[in-house]
Amino acid sequence: MNSIIKASNQPRIIDLPKILDRRGNLSIIEEMKNIPFEIKRSFWIYDVPGGETRGGHAYRETQEFIVALSGSFDVVINDGKIKQSFSLNRSYYGLYVPKMMWRQMVNFSTNSLALVVTSTEYDANDYVRDYDEFLKAKKDD
Ligand code: TYD
Repeated sequence: MNSIIKASNQPRIIDLPKILDRRGNLSIIEEMKNIPFEIKRSFWIYDVPGGETRGGHAYRETQEFIVALSGSFDVVINDGKIKQSFSLNRSYYGLYVPKMMWRQMVNFSTNSLALVVTSTEYDANDYVRDYDEFLKAKKDD
């Protein structure tokens, strides 16, 4: 299916296409088709020591799509009012994270590999790293 999916301000799981044949599986991320933004950057997180967490910040503009290419981890999303935890453990779906969500990645399994594609180039000024500042910005929204 080639339908373009709409951006929304809600975090949500997006199922990706899965091509299965006897040689194995193949899944796909295409910008503005499977995910609701144009991809400017990809990075991945790996070799996370047991018990370690990543994130603990929000982005002013960046939207993300996060896939567990291998292993498992949880992404905790907080919109300033409600906290939701999403478990990622298969590579044929991912989590869409709108801008201005406090997000944290926790419970990494051994050898987990998190792929993150984003709507922006890296910009340190896009980060909100202070939780009180985040809450204030959400209230002023
Ligand atoms: P950071 O986004 O804080 O990691 P996490 O959210 O997983 O805890 O990034 C860690 C460091 O890497 C920080 O110094 C910024 C740098 N970095 C880049 O230079 N480019 C990038 O695209 C990203 C994502 C991070």
